[in-house]
Order: sequence, then structure tokens, then C-alpha cells
Amino acid sequence: MSNYHIKHLEEYYQVYRKSVRNPESFWEEIAEEHFIWRKKWDTVLEWDFSKPEVKWFQGAQLNITDNCIDRHLATRRNKTAILFEPNDPEEEAQHITYGQLHERVCKLANVLKDNGIKKGDRVCIYLPMIPELTYALLACARIGAIHSVVFAGFSSNAIASRINDSDCKMVITSDGSYRGNKSIDLKGIVDKALEECPGVQSVLVAKRIQSDIEMVEGRDKWLAPLMDDADSVCEAETMNAEDPLFILYTSGSTGKPKGMVHTCGGYMVYTAYTFKNIFQYREEDVFWCTADIGWITGHSYIVYGPLANGATSIMFEGVPSYPDFSRFWEVIEKHKVNQFYTAPTAIRALAKENLDYLEKHDLSSLKVLGSVGEPINEEAWHWYNNNVGKKKSPIVDTWWQTETGGIMISPIPYVTPTTPTFATLPFIGVQPALMDEEGKEIKGNQVEGRLCIKFPWPSIARTIWGNHERYRDTYFSAYKNMYFTGDGANRDAVGYYRITGRVDDVIIVSGHNLGTAPIEDAINEHQAVAESAIVGFPHDVKGNALYGYVILKETGESRDRDNVRKEINQQITELIGPIAKLDKIQFVSGLPKTRSGKIMRRILRKIASNDTSNLGDTSTLLNPEVVKEIMDNVL
Ligand code: WT7
Repeated sequence: MSNYHIKHLEEYYQVYRKSVRNPESFWEEIAEEHFIWRKKWDTVLEWDFSKPEVKWFQGAQLNITDNCIDRHLATRRNKTAILFEPNDPEEEAQHITYGQLHERVCKLANVLKDNGIKKGDRVCIYLPMIPELTYALLACARIGAIHSVVFAGFSSNAIASRINDSDCKMVITSDGSYRGNKSIDLKGIVDKALEECPGVQSVLVAKRIQSDIEMVEGRDKWLAPLMDDADSVCEAETMNAEDPLFILYTSGSTGKPKGMVHTCGGYMVYTAYTFKNIFQYREEDVFWCTADIGWITGHSYIVYGPLANGATSIMFEGVPSYPDFSRFWEVIEKHKVNQFYTAPTAIRALAKENLDYLEKHDLSSLKVLGSVGEPINEEAWHWYNNNVGKKKSPIVDTWWQTETGGIMISPIPYVTPTTPTFATLPFIGVQPALMDEEGKEIKGNQVEGRLCIKFPWPSIARTIWGNHERYRDTYFSAYKNMYFTGDGANRDAVGYYRITGRVDDVIIVSGHNLGTAPIEDAINEHQAVAESAIVGFPHDVKGNALYGYVILKETGESRDRDNVRKEINQQITELIGPIAKLDKIQFVSGLPKTRSGKIMRRILRKIASNDTSNLGDTSTLLNPEVVKEIMDNVL
């Protein structure tokens, strides 16, 4: 028991050493003492990063919903599991108890079965942050269907490619969604996507905005009446520890999005254990993660991690600016939130507003503040610490990825002394390494390098759906026998890690992971565009914003530039979603390229960031003259 909840720094080091010296016995003990298994494992860990292959708790059987729901019924039946806070503060919050969660998940699971969904089938979930979203994840998990949640801000095109990549048989969506003072026609977006998805046989539609939508005969069904009629008993399917639990797509630096596959056993153990320790969750606490369940943060720290601990987890439908910029603070006061987990981009946006928004609310319930998604800059860190935490709630700057399933580097609050902008120490069981460009590990402190992980942890993604080779190439080929994260980091004098950002062509905008390639593809589809390159540049709220360099075709030269700019952003919105829109678009006559034809993004990045003092040697470029032209016309 003592290992499950770490309480001081000595204990952290002691447990950390144990977890690294003997990972198998360490994780075996955690798994054995804190979870319900239908059958115990034959081996704790089998792994080989050169294949790559990772298997945790091989031979074990379980269902994650036994752990997230059923086991709590005896002691927490009337405890709030999901606290739903609607977009409109005038609408009443819903306290969904573990008892109700059980009933609704079982009913929805029966609806899925009645509509032909079996163990192993893929179900695409495209829903706003309403309770049905959580029911849908858990109902899939209960019957062993693999959920693939697509963030409800993605376009028809983006949905279609994700549905087809993993052959989803069903889509669960809603008539629409609320977002601040707007409503969005989600069903219309799904209908358009499904024109390209012959494999989808049925669509279940939750009612949220009461809009008048088209229902396709024989394909579309309203969810509520089906749930009303469904049996509230649904025996959970027995799953193997290594059976897939879900697929979640994330951008790569090239090519189409990668469907990261997470499996049942290890993911459960790791998200539950990190949740308990990194948020120091206690039985009566109210936990609030402001992420959307469309991202990994929501999967792991709104749904699975909290529920596996019998926690009360807030699901927030709204945005920080509606009805005004006090919304977050109002919700913290209203529900007496104890742990608050948000993103640097939200902190920066709120820090720009008048402090009155915050100061009129009682935030004294807060015990722990969290940050995730991108590096948190010093100014935002201090604003968060001084104004939200009143210097008494430690900030956990949690570094992790869709691929890692759970938090990897983070302070443990009240245990690890924090340093602004540092994610500090590896979590229990995590073995980071900094590598140089030649592939050698950089030992010692006060060093900088590329961040890798040397040893498997239970919730590492096992593959990319349908493309194991790409999984190997992306994560295990840069450095032998290491998982390569794509991030750069440094380690200070006391061994704390600070993440410096991506070292590949992924750009993090407002905490969203965007690959350059799909955005460039979207731009290039515009009929006036010949070629394009995008880079990130510093932005005071978004962290990074996108800067596009665009070469027009001869036929496009006569077009009005501002119209073309607008159309390019429309094109991006249509093909990917509004999150990938460009802040600046510069028309250029050429792009700086190496002799082998590779675009020199490093140079473009520096120009876009107004940092041209040290461009490096440009004389070896194929077209050095273009650099000056671009610099002269920079926006
Ligand atoms: C990338 C992963 C993990 C959930 C949300 C993002 C960046 C994430 C931090 C942090 C600095 C961070 C990294 C990482 N990132 N957290 N605390 N400090 N950078 O998941 O979309 O898979 O993005 O987000 O660059 O590689 P994701």
C-alpha cells in the first residue's frame, strides 16, 4: 500500500529507485494491490524496443469498467463520478453518481450491441463535452469495442480520414454543440464526412441543441429513446490486458495522422497511479481538468484515471471566455474545485484580462494546479502561481504525449520543490535520457539534448493502427533501443528537466499538436497555390502561431492577395479544422531549399520569428537569393 501514495521527497527517491531497479516487481505490486483482475498475468513485462514490442501483464484478464465503475458501487454508489458543468452557467450542473454512471454505461453498451457492435469493432465518437461522451467511451470499453474519439472541432475531411483509417463501423455524435455564444452543426459535419465512409453502418445521435437535423433512414438513430428502452444490465466483456482499448489520432511531422493504439491493462494501471500521485487526489476532492475528451489529456485525466480512483471529475462543456473571462474562477468557486488542470495557452489568455475577473471569486478550495500541453513560460507560471494558487498551491508542470498515455515528467505536489518552467523529475518508473545528434547518451547534469525514454512504462502506445512499421520508424529508429519523443530538453544542476519544445516538424499551437505536412497539403490544394511551407513563430497567447510562405502559380499572380489569404484559411478549416488556420501568410517567389530539395524550415522559422541575426551559412542553398527577398518582405 505504501507505494501507492507518495508523501515526501525521500519516499519519492526511494520508490523511484525501486521502480527502476526492478520495474517488474514494482509494477506487479501496484497492479495487484489496486485493481480488479479477472485473471492474473503470466508475465509482468515482455519487451524489445528493436522490434518494437511491449507487452504488460500478458495473460491477464480484466475489464477497465469493472475498475472505473463496478468496484465503486459498494462504497461510492451515491458519490458524484462526473460533474457536468454546461456551457451556459444558467443551465443546472449535473451530478452523475457512480450508480447512475453504471446504469447509463450499461444501457448504452446494450444499445451498441443491439446495433451490431461486437468486441474488437471500432466506433468513432464525435461528440461535444456532454455526459454522453463519457458514457460512450465506457460503453465501448465495457463490450470490448475500440473507441476512436475525434475532437469535435475537426472538419468532415479530418473525420472521414480517421474513420476510414481504422474502419469504424459506427459513429456516435450529436445534433450539435454549444461553444460560448455559438452553436455548431455537428451532425451536418458528420453527414458530409460519411459521404466518404462506406464502412459506417449506423450513426447514434445524442440531442443537445434541439436543432432540426436530417436523419438518414436506416442509418441514423436518436440515442435517447434507445437508451430508455435498453436493459440496464450489461455484463462487462472479459478482455486480455493487451487487447486494444482505444485509438487516438495525433499529428506526425509527415504523412497522415497516426492512430495511436492504447491497450487495456497497462493504460489503466499507469493513468490511475499517476492521477493519484500527481494530483494528490483524496477521497472527497473535486478534480477539474479543462481539456476536451477529444485529446489524450481528457481520456486519461477526465475519464479513466479519475474514475479508476473513484474520484469526482468535472466535465466542462464551455470555454474560458463565456459568458465572460471569470468563467473558470466561477466554476472553481461553485464546485469547490481542489485540483485544477489546464493549459498554458488558457493561462496566458486569462492573464491578459482584468484581475477583477479572478479576484471576485473565492479560490481557496484549490490545493494543486496543473499545466499541460506545451512549455509554460516564466511569466505565465508566476501569474498562475501568484493569482490562482496564491503561492500556496504547487504547480505541476506535466510533460507527456498522446503516445505516452499518461504523465511522464512532473513534480509531485507537496513532495517535489518546483522551479518555474521545469517539469522537474521523471515520474516513478520513467527512465529518461538526453541524447546527442550522434546517438550518444549525454550523461551528467547541466546538459541539453533530445529527450528519449530508455525503458517501457505501462501505458506506452503499442503501435500505430494498421502501420507498425511507421511506429518503429517514428519512435524507435532515431536512437537504438530507445523511445524517441520528438522533444528537446535540458537537465539542470539538480537533475530537473525542462522541455524546450519539438525538434521535428510538429508545431504546438495553443497546446494542439499540428503537423506541417497536412497543413501544407491543404494549402497546396488551393488552385492558385504552387507550393507552400509553414513554420511556427512565438505568439503571446497561443505559444506558437502558424506562419505560411506561399508561392503562387502564374495564374494566381493577378489575384487579390487578401482574398487568396482568406481562401487559404477557408481551405485549411475545411480540410483540417479551424485550429490549423495560419496567422500570417507571406507570398514569396521561392522557398529556400537544400541541394537535395529539402525545404530549410530552420531559416524560415528564424525569419518568421524576427530572429535573423544568426541564419547560418545560406550559401550552400540551391537558391540563396530567395532568403533576402523573404527577409525584405517579412510580415
Ligand atoms: C507534445 C505532445 C500530453 C497531453 C497534451 C499534448 C508538448 C506536452 C508539455 C509540457 C512542454 C509539453 C511536447 C509533447 N508538451 N506537455 N508540460 N511542457 N511541452 O499531447 O498532443 O500528444 O502533444 O506536447 O512537445 O511532445 P500531444
